[in-house]
Amino acid sequence: MIISASTDYRAAAQRKLPPFLFHYIDGGAYAEHTLRHNVEDLAGIALRQRVLRNMSELSLETQLFGETLSMPAALAPIGLCGMCARRGEVQAAKAADAKGIPFTLSTVSVCPIEEVAPNLSRPMWFQLYVLKDRGFMKNALERAKAAGVTTLIFTVDMPVPGARYRDAHSGMSGPNGPLRRMLQAFSRPAWAWDVGLLGRPHDLGNISTYRGNPTGLADYIGWLGSNFDPSISWKDLEWIRDFWPGSMVIKGILDPQDARDAVTFGADGIVVSNHGGRQLDGVLSSARALPAIADAVKGELKILADSGIRNGLDIVRMIALGADAVLLGRAFVYALAVAGGAGVSNLLNLIEKEMRVAMVLTGAKSISEITRESLAAY
Ligand code: GLV
Repeated sequence: MIISASTDYRAAAQRKLPPFLFHYIDGGAYAEHTLRHNVEDLAGIALRQRVLRNMSELSLETQLFGETLSMPAALAPIGLCGMCARRGEVQAAKAADAKGIPFTLSTVSVCPIEEVAPNLSRPMWFQLYVLKDRGFMKNALERAKAAGVTTLIFTVDMPVPGARYRDAHSGMSGPNGPLRRMLQAFSRPAWAWDVGLLGRPHDLGNISTYRGNPTGLADYIGWLGSNFDPSISWKDLEWIRDFWPGSMVIKGILDPQDARDAVTFGADGIVVSNHGGRQLDGVLSSARALPAIADAVKGELKILADSGIRNGLDIVRMIALGADAVLLGRAFVYALAVAGGAGVSNLLNLIEKEMRVAMVLTGAKSISEITRESLAAY
């Protein structure tokens, strides 16, 4: 039975997914120190309990990039999300939409922009990497614009992919990958039938659409490795700023000086993030990096945060540390893997309940009342 958003779905996802997929989602870079610190540092932040303050009226609503969100969260861009459930990006996006929060489609999703966006009542968010193939970037931006996307999440912390040793162990990458993945799929018959067979085509939908032929999972790691651009600098982002009329959010900021540079650049927002501990192991957890960044730029652009957020209490903690909203990553993917869109809906309801309890017991009637005063220690 699913009781706790943060742990039960993860355990159930491990039983459901072929190991290479579970570990791709669950794992981090190198020895995974930052992955663990993201969760532990956040859990270690003490909320300040307040009582007897008539907390009968609560509002979780917040405004972000011209939109009203029912709570201060959006679903994060997740590569290969569509391998975790049948046409998974569509299912997750519909669940987010029904809850009144945005869904972010990854560049390296299974379902392309055109398959996901028409299902939604609000604009989809789209995530883009800095890639060597500027033609692809331009094409993706044009298609996103045509699909009604107004918020672009630009990921800048992947000039090179972090070393994911877990992927090499699991068969996601490394020798005999295709054979190992096929054997693992047979060990999970429910997944093999529902997603492996009925969830086809399994390719990187956005890239296949651009290239005009399928870019399969076998090409995934190779495609990422050969397409990330280590020469990237703020200058390279300028053409996008000029080309993109909507909001532009820079994802992967972990330092106050970089946050200041994002303000100078004219970004509408940043995501304080270490990519869920999947890039440089040993950097600060998002929870520890966030306060100094908020001190440096709060009010000048919107601050989002991710990495380590597994439940509603963590959202309250991130808001108290200075975030305006958060992105939920692994937490929703585990739920998607277990029960598809219904799992994501259930998870978001659980998270909302957790937030409500935390707000009542910290004396915050609205999101703007969640401040550092809501914390006893951080
Ligand atoms: C892609 O962004 C990944 O972290 O695997």
